Amino acid sequence: MAEEIALDSMGEWHRTHYCGEIGTGQVGAEVVVAGWVHRRRDHGGVLFVDLRDRTGIVQLVFNPDINPSAFSRADLVHSEWVIAARGKVQLRPAGMENPNLSTGAVEIYPNEVRILNTARTPPFYITDGDDVDESVRLRYRYLDLRRPALQRNIMLRHRIVKIIRDYFDSQGFLEIETPVLTRSTPEGARDFLVPSRLNPGTFYALPQSPQLFKQLLMVAGFDRYFQVVKVFRDEDLRGNRQPEFTQVDVEMSFPDRDEIFRHVEAMMAAVYKGALGIEIKTPFPRMSWQEAMDRYGSDKPDLRFGMAFVDLAAAAGKSTFEVFRRALATGGQVKGIVVPGGAAWSRKTIDQMENVAKDNGAGGLAWAAWGPDGVRSPVAKYFPEGIEAMLRAAGAAVGDLLLVAAGPAPVVARGLGAVRLAAGTQAGLIPTDQLAFTWVIDFPLFSYSEEEGRLVAEHHPFTAPHAEDMDLIDREPLRVRSWAYDLVLNGEELASGSIRIHRRDIQDKVFRALGFTQAEAQERFGFLLEAFEYGAPPHGGIALGLDRLVALMAGTGSIRDVIAFPKTSSGADLMVRAPAAVDKEQLDELHIRIKP
Ligand code: AMO
Repeated sequence: MAEEIALDSMGEWHRTHYCGEIGTGQVGAEVVVAGWVHRRRDHGGVLFVDLRDRTGIVQLVFNPDINPSAFSRADLVHSEWVIAARGKVQLRPAGMENPNLSTGAVEIYPNEVRILNTARTPPFYITDGDDVDESVRLRYRYLDLRRPALQRNIMLRHRIVKIIRDYFDSQGFLEIETPVLTRSTPEGARDFLVPSRLNPGTFYALPQSPQLFKQLLMVAGFDRYFQVVKVFRDEDLRGNRQPEFTQVDVEMSFPDRDEIFRHVEAMMAAVYKGALGIEIKTPFPRMSWQEAMDRYGSDKPDLRFGMAFVDLAAAAGKSTFEVFRRALATGGQVKGIVVPGGAAWSRKTIDQMENVAKDNGAGGLAWAAWGPDGVRSPVAKYFPEGIEAMLRAAGAAVGDLLLVAAGPAPVVARGLGAVRLAAGTQAGLIPTDQLAFTWVIDFPLFSYSEEEGRLVAEHHPFTAPHAEDMDLIDREPLRVRSWAYDLVLNGEELASGSIRIHRRDIQDKVFRALGFTQAEAQERFGFLLEAFEYGAPPHGGIALGLDRLVALMAGTGSIRDVIAFPKTSSGADLMVRAPAAVDKEQLDELHIRIKP
């Protein structure tokens, strides 16, 4: 302890109220409160102490003329000391009320204060809105978590999980735990591995999802399963990703897609209503993956605003612009978006949009600004009949800006999709108070991975193909539609799932298309294939990213703000300092040697 001070104990005291509960209802009553000193102020010899706990702040008043002994004890305290106080609640004098505090109409006049612990000066103020470096916050996460905003987020998370559990329980779903030390489940990331001491040279994988176990629970006859579950993925971490995160994992037997959607919609409605008092509209709209890609260039379209892509092939085909001509001649696309009012944008802002396009793989971004004095455009000269025809084809009007990308379909989708988001933000067109849910359905079963030079599962290898596309699997695999679906909210993928394959012959066929040999499939997923031979029911499900949902509901851009002890983007826990080196003895026991 920094200070030489005799500490008190609570003794026979029992807290009667949380700080935030003290209000006009308690006026005249004697209460006992306990918490942290948020702030102390001296006002003309009178001492005001703001006492904080997870519910809020209440003001304690120590007047040396009224109670000298309580005053002299309170006079010792500093920020973040832990104290308890007992005294009468009084109305604040007229004009002294604080409308910013829920307890702002009252204050407590303690007849006694007990100092339960002192505190070092914290490395940052325990207050919201202070611009503290995140690495310092994470290093002292227990102090960071004292901030009201984070307390609210963590409490909101608790409320949301409680509502989710209650919802699924009310619908006959059973929460069943699945192993953490297991085998690889392919969800597209690297596995975290755990060496086995008892079986030298072998490793467990931490689950990327409970996918295979939940399917096996359907084979086992549990019919309706859910689990609020930690899963682990060793992937490059972007803003809304953590190496360990929480899924609300769900699986049902004999479902159709609509039934799964209904449960998720009802769960979301219960969560928004119960946690935030917000009524959301269900059912959510649905959009095919193809339409999402064609119109928004993304499988997670932000539908809070318009600016959908317009196909400009016909108008662009009349130009002499080499980039457009080449794109169209090689089976590619020319597409544009109209920015309402964007004709007034500066050249610099337009250049920023071009940079967004380039950063996202596009060769460039053509543009045409339709101002009151005519069209400004670096490509106007390539339009012998005038560029106005293309602006009209795009649905632009005077005052608007047309942004155009050309190239192979995936390049246009990615580049122009990113530009749409940047331009929508720039134009202030994205309402922050709206909830735009959409289901994206009919994902392709496979996609082609340039990196790996082979077909990969677009969702995961257990997703059922559309029955009518089955014979395309061998001939034109990229055209096979699947029963995979995503739930998207405001441009973020919240949940993802599918109707599964439940027949061994079809699962074999899909594994084959993915390039697994019979032996490899047997080695990795033999237990699943075998289970399918013992009466597997048709089944399907979904998993929702809980951290993302809570972040969206809490109104924070970072999932780290809704996880009590998150990791940095390099996967580190700065507080406990993990990952860390281990003793040689420990490695020896595990039969592991670190490469020099
Ligand atoms: P998927 O891999 O799409 O599906 O994951 C489901 C949801 O989890 C969230 N999510 C993440 N959240 C935080 N950090 C991450 N690194 C991260 N990765 C994913 C997303 C995503 O929608 N087994 C399948 C589900 C199924 O088919 O039932 C699965 O895991 O919100």
